[in-house]
Amino acid sequence: MAPLMHFFATLLFVLIPLEATTHHHHHQQHGLKSLHFTLYQQETLNKTAYFVIQGVAGPPLSLTTAPFGTMFVFQDPLTLKPNHTSKLVGTSEGSAITSGLDGLQSITVGKVTLNLKKHKGSISIVGVTNNIKPSNHPVVGGTGDFLFVQGYITSSPVNLVGSPVTYKIEFHLYWPPYAYLKP
Ligand SMILES: *[C@@H]1O[C@H](CO)[C@@H](O)[C@H](O)[C@H]1NC(C)=O
Ligand SMILES: *[C@@H]1O[C@H](CO)[C@@H](O)[C@H](O)[C@H]1NC(C)=O
Repeated sequence: MAPLMHFFATLLFVLIPLEATTHHHHHQQHGLKSLHFTLYQQETLNKTAYFVIQGVAGPPLSLTTAPFGTMFVFQDPLTLKPNHTSKLVGTSEGSAITSGLDGLQSITVGKVTLNLKKHKGSISIVGVTNNIKPSNHPVVGGTGDFLFVQGYITSSPVNLVGSPVTYKIEFHLYWPPYAYLKP
């Protein structure tokens, strides 16, 4: 058993740095740059995320619904892999206000701070999150290496029953040509 475990530990050790360097897809065409990668948001209720205002109408608070007007605030770690013990590469902070009368949707404003090997800075997002389906959020801008960035992120629930709950965040980022004119 022990040698086998050691084999897997060695294999993981070899695979992870490789993964960390190859999970980015990088394109540079006609001077336009884009970047596509996936991270995982780990959210622990009453620790990294809280319901701060109870809404006023619609379905009660459950795993997937919240009353209309409910305000939720979060500052969650972002990891490289679905497992919450995997490498920490950023944070996602923001708030969501339940804006669907069915209790399933909320308007979300967020800032994602990224500390990747070749890209450091933040991106800001805004959009509607559906609690049970993948949701696309437009990227409205960024700072640092993400100054002037555009594109969208897709947020999908991966595991809603554990602690932390996990969301997959797919990033599709595009830099406009004038991003290179930054000071
Ligand atoms: C979080 O805190 C609220 C209010 O104190 C409580 O009702 C709820 O059960 C807690 N949930 C978890 C998962 O700790
Ligand atoms: C996450 O990783 C830890 C440490 O490598 C491991 O003990 C645990 O079983 C993993 N959890 C899942 C759900 O795979």
